[in-house]
Amino acid sequence: MKKRVLTWVKPTSDVIHLGNYFGAIKQILNWQKEWLDIILFVADMHATTTLHDWETLRKNIIGLVRSYLASWINPERVLVFKQSDVAGHVQLWWVLASITTLGYMKRMHAYKDALQKWKSDEITMGTFNYPILMAADILLYDPDYVPVGKDQKQHLEFTRDIAEKFNSIYGETFKLPQSWIDKNVATIPWIDGRKMSKSYNNFISLLEDDDSLLKKIRRIPTSPIPIDEPKNPDECNVFNMLKHFLSDEEEKKIRNRYEKGGLAYKEVKDLLYEKIKEFLAPIKRAYQNIPDEEIKKLLAQGAQKANEISSKKIEDVYFKVGYLISKS
Ligand code: ADP
Ligand code: TRP
Repeated sequence: MKKRVLTWVKPTSDVIHLGNYFGAIKQILNWQKEWLDIILFVADMHATTTLHDWETLRKNIIGLVRSYLASWINPERVLVFKQSDVAGHVQLWWVLASITTLGYMKRMHAYKDALQKWKSDEITMGTFNYPILMAADILLYDPDYVPVGKDQKQHLEFTRDIAEKFNSIYGETFKLPQSWIDKNVATIPWIDGRKMSKSYNNFISLLEDDDSLLKKIRRIPTSPIPIDEPKNPDECNVFNMLKHFLSDEEEKKIRNRYEKGGLAYKEVKDLLYEKIKEFLAPIKRAYQNIPDEEIKKLLAQGAQKANEISSKKIEDVYFKVGYLISKS
């Protein structure tokens, strides 16, 4: 049996930046090569905990799927669908909510993060509940692995706990998912050394136009060390970006030139510009050429397949819980 991995994208924006590409999309491209069984769902129901503008939500969903396809995600290898098309997510959410305590939920990052922003009475039930929906998103498909960053690790632990609790009350039903940790996933930095992020507004989009790309690269601050003096490439923001676009051979050469001295920042900035421009060109071209209709069709087909998988799980769960009087 192929190992199954489940991943997601949350449509709170339609921007995909280089950080998302190297942190999330590239993993899927690697899994595609390894012939894992891959599920990618658009977490639109999670997005509405904060986004209440329907036009934006629709635009984000289409834009994100288009960006993923333009980045060579192969829909024949990856099951792509959106969460709201599959009733099982909410059906399982309720069953899991029924065995989750308030005390446990209050310890979740989801709630603690929200308390930093709002008074407790202003936090929506959606925000408070989302780790339970997240557990349902996962357990519905029995994945072996779920790639989660630090911020979502606790929610994956909750998923395992609630799966164990269900299994112990009703009998063996859910596989306990493991977190997927990939040492090759790098955090992509930006000019200030902070990670590239939508929240810091310091990103380069996959659709960045060339002029704006050049401006952003020109703005990268560099150290005032004179050209002739040796420099440490690992302390240079330009190099830390550039290395993701270089072959091992090229990286070695540039590294040497930093360490020897004599390398002008203008030269590496120009190289960075050329490399990113070259990297983005085919993605931007593909993005322009994918019609809305193709995306809608893909999502509809994906929903059908996801429903086939998840409805079996829901039938099993509903029978064990007692909602279903007899099994078909
Ligand atoms: P942002 O920080 O821009 O809001 P998201 O939280 O939407 O990004 O992240 C979506 C995915 O992209 C996650 O898998 C996250 O780990 C990955 N990601 C985001 N920024 C980076 C980065 N700078 N480097 C590597 N991966 C990143
Ligand atoms: N809650 C996650 C976030 O805010 C997104 C998410 C929803 C998710 N369902 C999931 C992540 C299932 C992993 C598995 O980023």
